[in-house]
Formats: sequence, C-alpha cells, structure tokens
Amino acid sequence: MQTPPQAIQVRNLRIAPPLLLAPMAGLTHSALRQVMCGFGGVGLLSTEMLSARRLPTENPRVSPCLIRAETERPLSYQLMTSTCKEIAPAIEKLHAFGADAVDLNMGCPSPSVCRLGAGATLMEQPDQVRLILAEARKRTLLPLTAKIRLGIELDPGKLKTFCSMLEDEGIDMLSVHARFKHESFARRPRWEHIARIREQLKIPVVANGGIFSVQDAETCLRVSGADGLMLGRGAVIRPWLFAEIARNLFGDDIMMPTVSLPKVYSDFLAGLKERYRPVYRLGRLKEFTRYFARNYKFGHYLTSKVQSSSSIDEARERAWTFFETTERSRPMATNTTE
Ligand SMILES: Cc1cc2nc3c(=O)[nH]c(=O)nc-3n(C[C@H](O)[C@H](O)[C@H](O)COP(=O)(O)O)c2cc1C
Repeated sequence: MQTPPQAIQVRNLRIAPPLLLAPMAGLTHSALRQVMCGFGGVGLLSTEMLSARRLPTENPRVSPCLIRAETERPLSYQLMTSTCKEIAPAIEKLHAFGADAVDLNMGCPSPSVCRLGAGATLMEQPDQVRLILAEARKRTLLPLTAKIRLGIELDPGKLKTFCSMLEDEGIDMLSVHARFKHESFARRPRWEHIARIREQLKIPVVANGGIFSVQDAETCLRVSGADGLMLGRGAVIRPWLFAEIARNLFGDDIMMPTVSLPKVYSDFLAGLKERYRPVYRLGRLKEFTRYFARNYKFGHYLTSKVQSSSSIDEARERAWTFFETTERSRPMATNTTE
C-alpha cells in the first residue's frame, strides 16, 4: 500500500492524523470523546448532530450534546438544518462555543430528520443547499464541511454534480458515508464509489462506513483513495481504534496501552457522572453499552442487563458482576481486536 496521507489541512485546521470521529446521535458526546482522547489518534472529534433551530436557546453547560471539556480538541460541530434562515444564529453560537469546524448534515436518512427536509433529503434539494452554503460561508471563516451519503440510488452523474456544487459553494472538506440513502448498516459499504468523488474534487475527501479494524482502514484507504478516514461504530465499540490505526497506518508513535475493558467502561461512566445531570446519564450508558458489549462473546448478556436497569447505579452493579464473571474466565487485557 502507498504511504497514506499524513494530515489534512483545511483553512487553519490541521487534522493529523487524518482520522475523524463520525457524528453519532446519542453517542459522540463528551463522555465518550474523552475516553477516545485518552487513547489518542483522533485527528478531529465531532459532536452529534445539533438542530440549528434549537441551538440558539440551548445552554452549553447543561445540554448533553453541547457539554465539552477543554481537552476535546479539535472539535467539529455538526448542524442539522433544512433552511438558510437558521444558519446565522446557529453559527454565531458555534463561534461562542469555540468550534474548530462546522459540519453540515446531508446524509442522515432517519425519517424524523428527512421529514423536516434536512439530512439526506438535502441531496435532492441542490438549490436549497446552495442557499444554506452561501449563508454559512458568509457567516464563518471556520472550515465548513459536509457529510453526505452516495445519494438515493446509483446515479453517478447526479452525485458528481452535487459534489462539485458543494465544492464550488465553498465546502472545505467532504465526508462520504459510502452507502445509498436507504441502505442498512448490514450492507457492505461501497468504498469504491468514494474513489470517483475523490478524483473529481480538489478539496479533501474523507471515507466513512464500515471501518472496524486496522485491516478495514487499510482496505478502505486503498480502495477509496481518500484523504482521510471517518470512524463511527467501530470507535464506539473500541475507543482505542483510532490509536491503533494511527500507529499502524500513519506511523504515529502513540504508546498503545494494554486495554482493560472494565477500565474503559468505568472511565466512560465516570465521565457521565462528572459532567451530566442524572437525567441524562442512564440513556447514554445504555446506548454506549449496546456497542461496547460487542467486545465480549456473551456481550448480549451485558447489554440486556444494562438495558433493563432502572438506575445508573443498578446498571453499574450489573455491569460489574458481568465483568467479574467474564474477566475471571479469560486472560484480560488485549491491546487489539478480539
Ligand atoms: C447511533 C447512530 C447515530 C448517528 N448519528 C448521526 C448524526 O448525528 N449525524 C450524521 O451525520 N450521521 C450519523 N450517523 C451515521 C454515522 O456518522 C456514520 O456515517 C455511520 O455510522 C457509518 O459509519 P460507521 O460504519 O463507521 O459506523 C449515526 C450513526 C449511528 C449508528
């Protein structure tokens, strides 16, 4: 494999290594970002999608999507909107929060988002997108990025025209989730389609979808020719995956600590307890556990025990019982996938 790109430069932001965290609702909040930062290797962190309409009235010290620690840097904020009218006040807020980049969600296929005319629907509304981008470009000097899917269905000409429009309207970097709008996560991502977009644009193109290991990252880079990679679920299951990829593919001399799964879980819990109001903790723990439990052969047991807990203390106790039983039956501490 050719030497992968070492960094992405977009305006004043240097993304090194070119490994990005995917925005994920209910998951990419401060508690998880902090765990990832502890391992290293993340070039650009992300919030989950933020409603541009609601953002101006949210309190960043309380809102679970906005809470952040100073160490979570650089951090991109993702906006979900369908109209240019919401852009100015939302971006003003993002400046106040110290955003390092502003991302626009044009790929979310969820019916609740698409009904609003936002997310993946925007790929069908190029004129609307032009207005949103013109307004956003006018309001910020920060890197302005977009995240898309491959479109509704296979239509290379349409996708090409849409991506060129994004570039012409001032998008600085494009992340592509290599699936069509209605394709489920079970389907193999179509990384080869990203190669065509990459060839056509001058701005950096980041490949997203289905990267769960160093091997996946290597294959994705080779097939897509992308300038960087964006990790979603793989980095939730294994928050140390960035560090592994950075070390193995990008030559970072990150020390790979031996990973203790109970410690990762307990660090995540500590982050929730430290920064979130009680009402916001349990749901986030349940959501994280659904992914993290995949590190264990009998992880579904951990998931169901945590899912049926009615308080965070009960969930923690049940998780601990699971860890004690499981860890006793196998040598702990793996520093890679299992
Ligand atoms: C629970 C969940 C929430 C997500 N929320 C968002 C979101 O807020 N904004 C967005 O652009 N994509 C969102 N996505 C899509 C991811 O950013 C990413 O494109 C997708 O998971 C594919 O990458 P992966 O295979 O590495 O997970 C979400 C995905 C999941 C699983």
